Amino acid sequence: LSSTISTQLGYPIVVESGALNRIGRIAADVAGTPRRFAIITDATVGDLYARRVASSFHSAPTIVTIEPGESQKNRTTWATITDRLIGDGFGRDSMIVALGGGVVGDLAGFVAGTFMRGIPFVQVPTTLLAMIDASIGGKTGVDTPAGKNLVGVFHPPSAVVIDPQVLATLMLKHRCAGFAEAIKHGVIADREYFDSIAGSLGKLIAPDGWSSEAMVSLIVRSIRIKTEIVAQDERESGRRRILNFGHTIGHAVEAASDYHLLHGESVAIGMSLESRLAERAGIAARDTAETIAEVLDRANLPLSIPQGISTGEVLEKMQRDKKSRAGKVEFSLPAEIGRMHDAGGMWSVAIEPKLVQEVLNDEKKK
Ligand SMILES: NC(=O)c1ccc[n+]([C@@H]2O[C@H](COP(=O)([O-])OP(=O)(O)OC[C@H]3O[C@@H](n4cnc5c(N)ncnc54)[C@H](O)[C@@H]3O)[C@@H](O)[C@H]2O)c1
Ligand SMILES: [Zn+2]
Repeated sequence: LSSTISTQLGYPIVVESGALNRIGRIAADVAGTPRRFAIITDATVGDLYARRVASSFHSAPTIVTIEPGESQKNRTTWATITDRLIGDGFGRDSMIVALGGGVVGDLAGFVAGTFMRGIPFVQVPTTLLAMIDASIGGKTGVDTPAGKNLVGVFHPPSAVVIDPQVLATLMLKHRCAGFAEAIKHGVIADREYFDSIAGSLGKLIAPDGWSSEAMVSLIVRSIRIKTEIVAQDERESGRRRILNFGHTIGHAVEAASDYHLLHGESVAIGMSLESRLAERAGIAARDTAETIAEVLDRANLPLSIPQGISTGEVLEKMQRDKKSRAGKVEFSLPAEIGRMHDAGGMWSVAIEPKLVQEVLNDEKKK
C-alpha cells in the first residue's frame, strides 16, 4: 500500500505501509533547505518507534520525549520542550517531527508554530484518531485549566505521513476512539460512508482489524472528507465548523472528567447528546439521534455522561468554550445523517442553555 492523497491543502498526505522507515527522507524533501531536526514524541510511542524513525535521517536528530496522555498537553510541557530546543542550540533553520497521537501532534505543532515565530513541522500520526483527524488541518494548541485547546495557533504541517502498520500496537480502546471521529465524518458529510462504517464495524473491531482492508479504506475516506472541508475554510469562518459536531459537549465532558475520558470517547458522548438536542430543537430529522447512538454503541463507545460528572459542571464548561457567545452555547448540528444544518451559511446555531440543560439531565437519568 502506498498512496499520496492529493488535496487542495498545500501539503502532501502520504499513506504508506512502512513509511516510518522513510520519514527522514520525506522530511528532508519537503524542507527544501538543509535543516536540523527534532523529533517530539511520548514515552509509549518513543519506546516503540523513535529509534526506527531517527535512523531514517541523514544525521541523528534530537529526540524530545514527554509523558503520554492528555494531561501533558499544557503550557508547562510547551515551555519545557521549547527550553530544551533553545538549550540545544536549535534555531530558525530547524524542523520538528511530531511522532505520536493527537496529543503529541497538537503540542509539537504548537511548539513549531511559536518557536522563533514559527518553524515548519511534519506530522507522523500514530493513533487512528490522529491519522484521520488531528494531524490534518493545521489546528495546534494546548489545554488550560479552564478548558480544552484554549491557547493555540493555526500552523499547517509541511507534510502528513501515515504508516498504518503502527496501528498493530495501538490498544483497542484507542482504536475505537478513532472510530468516533470517522463516524463524525460520515454524519457531517457522507451518509454512504456512515453506512459503510456501520457495516464493517465487526471487522474493524476484530483483533486483527487494524490491518484489514476496511481500515485502510476508512483512513483514506476520512482524510478525503476532512481535507475537503478544511480546504474550503481553513480558518473556520464558516463550513469548517461542522467538524465541531459532538465537540461542544464533548470538550466540556472531556475536561470535566479531568481527562480520564479519551477525546474520542468524549466526542461520542457529545455526538449522542448533540444529536438528541438537534431533534429537540427541531433541526434534525426523526431517528437521527437513535441511528447515530446505535452505531457508536456498536463501536464500544459511551453515549451518556458518566456518573460522577455533574451536568451543571459540563454546562458551565461549555459556556466558557471558544465557540460560545454571550452565554449562549454554539452547536454545529446535523439536519440528517450525511448533511449538517447550514444555519444560513453560519453552520452553527446558538441554543438556549435551558434546552441544553434539559437534554443533559434527561439523558443522564436513563
Ligand atoms: N488538531 C485537531 O484538529 C484535532 C482533531 C481531533 C483531535 N485533536 C486532539 O487530539 C488529542 C487526542 O489524540 P489521540 O486520541 O491520538 O490521543 P493520544 O495522543 O493521547 O494517544 C493515545 C494513546 O495511545 C498511545 N499511542 C499512540 N500511538 C500508539 C501506537 N501506534 N501504538 C501504541 N500506543 C500508541 C499514546 O502514547 C497515548 O497513550 C486530543 O487532545 C484532541 O483535542 C486535535
Ligand atoms: Zn475531535
